[in-house]
Amino acid sequence: MAEPTGTPAHGARPVVAVFSTRSHDRSHLLEADPEASIAWRFFEQRLEASTVQAAEGALAVCAFVNDTLDAGVLARLHALGVRLVLLRCAGFNNVDLCAAADLGLRVGRVPEYSPHAVAEHTLALLLALNRKIHRAYNRVREGNFALDGLLGFDLHGKTVGVVGTGRIGATFCRILSGFGVRLLATDPCPSEAVRALGVEYLELDALLAASDVVSLHCPLTPQTHHLIDAGALARMKPGAFLLNTSRGAVVDTRALIAALKSGRLGALGLDVYEEEAHLFFRDLSEQVLQDDVFARLLTFPNVLITGHQGFFTREALRAIAATTVDNLRCFLATGAPRHPVSVERIA
Ligand code: NAI
Repeated sequence: MAEPTGTPAHGARPVVAVFSTRSHDRSHLLEADPEASIAWRFFEQRLEASTVQAAEGALAVCAFVNDTLDAGVLARLHALGVRLVLLRCAGFNNVDLCAAADLGLRVGRVPEYSPHAVAEHTLALLLALNRKIHRAYNRVREGNFALDGLLGFDLHGKTVGVVGTGRIGATFCRILSGFGVRLLATDPCPSEAVRALGVEYLELDALLAASDVVSLHCPLTPQTHHLIDAGALARMKPGAFLLNTSRGAVVDTRALIAALKSGRLGALGLDVYEEEAHLFFRDLSEQVLQDDVFARLLTFPNVLITGHQGFFTREALRAIAATTVDNLRCFLATGAPRHPVSVERIA
């Protein structure tokens, strides 16, 4: 196979420009390359049109969930000599794959680093919301030991609907099967392994109508954008819980707010948000919150939001860094990352 364009000369270290870097990214990537065979260039800023120039001289850019890899940014990257995009995540909704293919830019991702990390975090949101742990924590610290308003329900015997039973959804089903719940799922590609857990596959509408808890684990694609909109929320059981640890735009946030105001939605657990790129992964505690939709969400006592931390476990960070280095090495050896994302995948 022909050498990939931009391959460093023999002996030269490949340069990788890492965007949206936090200290944990830096330490884990360095640890995954103990022989220092890669010249990492770490940038705190997100990759977007205004920052793309920083990739000059790099063979690869390493990007995260809120970096912008649209057609314009990809064209600039290609013109700067970049030939590979290394995503440090499973989702690839932020990459214009058609534009990448047209430019001959390869895209690699980390398809599986720890489905347990996200599935366990989803369970944490569910249990905390149900038993009002977020409220109890503050109350007890203020010396208020009253139980009013903290009433939950037994999960045992309830019906949980899982939308998307890939790696994370299947792991969530496996964990929940120990809780004595009835498990429903919807997925265009049902899994026999999931069925074997006793999970019943239904169409989305039937799942929404029957579930006390709905948990979203599908990717964000044009087909799943606003999958949970006002209509879908109206089809849910009154008082049902909704959990979203997949991607923010799978739900219509304004419709969520309406359903929370009317009391139709019993509780909402989010680890992702449609407009999270402007908020998450930074300390904004000294600034005035400019996002009025997000601010409204924060006012509901039955809403629990975390800032996209589902993936954030030691095991997952180690696996992300190791797979990222492996994707690069595979590209250097063969011209393709070990875990490529291509347009065919979503066709
Ligand atoms: P996966 O690719 O293994 O599974 C996704 C499943 O969703 C597949 O079985 C697919 O057939 C199904 N699906 C696709 N369209 C659907 C639809 N319209 N309705 C129902 N199911 C549908 O992906 P994985 O690893 O399980 O991750 C799921 C999503 O979780 C990722 O795409 C990503 O957006 C999100 N994620 C969130 C993280 C976090 O930190 N909160 C970390 C990692 C992933």
